[in-house]
Amino acid sequence: METNRHNFSSGPSILPDEVLQKAAQAVLNFNDSGLSLIEISHRDPAFVDIINSARSQALELLNLQDKGYSALFLQGGASLEFVRVAYNLLSKNGTAGYINTGSWSNNALNEASYFGKIVEVASSKDKKYNYIPKNIEIPSNLDYLHITSNNTIYGTQFKEFPQTDIPLVCDMSSDIFSRVLDFTKFDLIYACAQKNAGTSGVNLVVVKNELLERIKKPIPNIMNYRKHIERESMYNTPSVFSVYVSYLTLNWLKDSGGVEAMERKNRAKAHLMYSEIDRNNLFFGNASVEDRSVMNATFFLKDEKLATQFNTLCLKEGIYGINGHRTAGGYRASIYNAMPITSVQLLVQVMQYFEAHFG
Ligand SMILES: Cc1ncc(COP(=O)(O)O)c(C=O)c1O
Repeated sequence: METNRHNFSSGPSILPDEVLQKAAQAVLNFNDSGLSLIEISHRDPAFVDIINSARSQALELLNLQDKGYSALFLQGGASLEFVRVAYNLLSKNGTAGYINTGSWSNNALNEASYFGKIVEVASSKDKKYNYIPKNIEIPSNLDYLHITSNNTIYGTQFKEFPQTDIPLVCDMSSDIFSRVLDFTKFDLIYACAQKNAGTSGVNLVVVKNELLERIKKPIPNIMNYRKHIERESMYNTPSVFSVYVSYLTLNWLKDSGGVEAMERKNRAKAHLMYSEIDRNNLFFGNASVEDRSVMNATFFLKDEKLATQFNTLCLKEGIYGINGHRTAGGYRASIYNAMPITSVQLLVQVMQYFEAHFG
């Protein structure tokens, strides 16, 4: 879809053109079948191939194929995984540890507290979540430790992960597939799709099978990771359109050089963005420099009274979606995998023009 819009939305967010084209085509006429993708059975062999291929592609991109992990496309957003994680992994008399680095971590922690004892192992709430806590002491008696790798709202990101033998659960909603990591360090990864892995309507869960073997308590099927694995992510009707968009997005990702290539491009975009935030006299960034997110660059006007002028300028240039989260204010440029560097260059030029004319 060729447009003159530059989409910095935090999610649902920019998708590659070819993904949009193919998804649109499949809605009209799926694989030349004369039927729409969204009117055929999810048990149709063509769709079964798609979901299975997307599941194995996800493992391959994370370099987790043949390493005892399963990938699932489930529903309910990352918010449902907040609940499902605790339902499955928190034992009757056990305790789960949470590192609280933003509103999403805080939600994850609160939802888990319905299932048992939770400890907040570390928090950056004291400084409005503008940093990532370091040198965290992790109690040895935890059922699991939960972290949020990238804090979409506040623009911070874990660069190093806690070293621990305790099962590590990570909400990677806003930075999955954006950088190369040793993903075997994680026992369970989940991510809503609508940032780097497709569109809303599905959440990707990647889980080490061994982690689930120790679960003894009864869990309703729809909440039970083991049941979803056993049924190959088809326990109930999957969100076929969203799974298809994830399938196309993951194929695009692979054809574009995989996670390594994404990381290189993402670093270049983030460098451009943060250099301008630091250089420009009218703006400032408040996320701690060493913890800055490569996916969501947050920044603020030094003089709020200039907001209308800056917003008008952005609108005129087709810059969409840079307002900060309603709870955080300011601006946030979300520069996910599909965002071309040319859009970041344009935003930087607009910031420079703004400084020259309003500074
Ligand atoms: C890090 C993180 N976790 C969880 C969520 C919640 O995802 P959902 O709205 O799919 O439940 C978001 C949404 O933006 C997010 O950024």
